[in-house]
Amino acid sequence: MILVLVGPPGAGKGTQAKLLCARFGIPQISTGDMLREAKRSGTLEKRYLDIMDSGGLLPDEAVIGLIDRRTAEPDCRGGFLLDGFPRTVPQADALDALLVGQGSGIEAVIQLDVPRSLLEERLIHRRTDKRSGQIYHLVYNPPPPGAELEHRADDRPEAVGKRLDAYEAMTAALLPFYEQKGLLRRVDGVGTPEEVTQRVMSALGRPGSGGE
Ligand code: AP5
Repeated sequence: MILVLVGPPGAGKGTQAKLLCARFGIPQISTGDMLREAKRSGTLEKRYLDIMDSGGLLPDEAVIGLIDRRTAEPDCRGGFLLDGFPRTVPQADALDALLVGQGSGIEAVIQLDVPRSLLEERLIHRRTDKRSGQIYHLVYNPPPPGAELEHRADDRPEAVGKRLDAYEAMTAALLPFYEQKGLLRRVDGVGTPEEVTQRVMSALGRPGSGGE
C-alpha cells in the first residue's frame, strides 16, 4: 500500500500519518521530519536550512534524492505513507518514475482540507516531543509532564504566512495532476483526529476497519 497525504501546513498530515501508519503497519516517510533530523544532526546545508526556517520550499532535487534513498530501505517493501512529498509536479513525476521502476503505484492521494483561518491557530500552538516525535497542541492535545518540547522555527507567524501561500501556489498544479489520474480523495480535516482518520478510512473504501 502506497499512500500520499497532501494538505496545507497544520492540516494534520503528521498527526494522521502516525494514526494511519499504526493501522496499516507501514512506515511514515515525511520529508519535513527528515529535513529537521538533518538540521538537528548538523548535516543540512546552510542554504537549505535558511529556506526551511523562513517557510520556503527546498529545490526539487534535494527532496527527490531523500525519497529515492528512503524508499529503497527494506521496511518500505510492504508499502509506505508519504507525508509532505510530493509537493510539486516535478516531484510527482519523479515519484511516478520511481514507483514504475519498482513495479508499484500509488493507491490514493488523500487531500486534507482545513480552512486557512484554523491553520494558523493550530501551528502557533503546536509543540513536538523531541524524543518521540509525538505531535501535540497546547490546547486540544496538551503534552504530558516531562515531554521535551520543541517549537518549530517555521511556526513563527511570519513563516506560517509564507508556508500557507507556498501551499496555495503549489496545489494549483499538483492537485489537478492527481485528480486527472483518478487518485485524489478529498477529506474534511476539521474535527477530532480520530474523526478525521475515520473519514480517511472511508475515502480509502475501508470504513470501520483497522482497530476500532
Ligand atoms: P513539513 O514538515 O512537511 O511541514 P508542513 O507541510 O508545513 O506541514 P506541518 O508539519 O506544518 O503540518 P501537518 O499538516 O503535518 O500538521 P500536524 O499534524 O503537525 O515541511 C516543513 C518544511 O520542509 C517545508 O516548509 C519545506 O521548507 C521543507 N519541505 C518538506 N517537504 C518538502 C518537499 N517535498 N519539497 C520541498 N520542500 C519540502 O498538526 C498541526 C497542529 O494541529 C498540531 O499542533 C496538532 O496537534 C494539531 N492538530 C492536528 N490535527 C488536528 C485536529 N483534527 N484537530 C485539532 N488540532 C489538530
